[in-house]
Amino acid sequence: MPELNSKVYMIERASWRDLLALSALEKACFERDAWPLLDVMGVLTFLSVVRMRAMGDGELIGFIAGDPNKEKKTAWILTLGVLPDWRRMGIAETLLRMCEEEMHMPLVKLTVRRSNAAAIRLYEKFGYTQVDIWPKYYRGGEDGLVLAKEMTWV
Ligand SMILES: CC(C)(COP(=O)(O)OP(=O)(O)OC[C@H]1O[C@@H](n2cnc3c(N)ncnc32)[C@H](O)[C@@H]1OP(=O)(O)O)[C@@H](O)C(=O)NCCC(=O)NCCS
Repeated sequence: MPELNSKVYMIERASWRDLLALSALEKACFERDAWPLLDVMGVLTFLSVVRMRAMGDGELIGFIAGDPNKEKKTAWILTLGVLPDWRRMGIAETLLRMCEEEMHMPLVKLTVRRSNAAAIRLYEKFGYTQVDIWPKYYRGGEDGLVLAKEMTWV
C-alpha cells in the first residue's frame, strides 16, 4: 500500500486556551529563540493580534500571529511555526495566506534569521523580498533579514 505523504489538519482561530500547547510548540520550533511564557500569553491575548492555529490529531501543530497597524498601514508577522513531523505539507503556506487575508494590510513585514533557509524559501515563494538587514538582531549575534510584501487587495 502506498504511504500517505499528507495528513489531515484544520486551521482555526487560536485563543488563550492554547497557552501551554503554544509554549511547547515555540520551544520545538525555535529552541533558543523561543518566546518566554509571558510573550506567548501576550500574543494570545492582545486585542489587535491576528492568531491562527493548525490542529492535527487533536494537537496544536502549527501557529501564526500577525499584528496589523492601521495607522502605519503595515502588519508584522510576529511568529510562524509548524512542528517537525508536520512540515512540508503546506501548513505554513496555509497559515500565512489566511493571516495575510485576515489582517488585510497594504504592506506585510517580518524578520527572519539570515541562516533560516527553509523560512526564507517559504517567504520568497510567497512574494516577500528583502528590504533591510538588522545586524546582530538575534540571540548569538546573527543578523535578521527584514522581508516585506506589498499586498494587492481587489
Ligand atoms: C519554516 C516553517 C514554518 C515551514 O513550515 P512548513 O509547514 O513545513 O512549510 P510549507 O510546507 O508550507 O512549505 C511551503 C514552502 O516553503 C519552502 N520550504 C519549507 N520548508 C523548506 C525546507 N526545509 N527547505 C526548503 N524549502 C522549504 C518551500 O518552498 C515550500 O514549498 P514546496 O514544499 O512546494 O517546495 C517550518 O519549517 C518551521 O516551523 N520552522 C521553524 C520555525 C521557523 O523558522 N519559523 C519561521 C521564523 S521567521
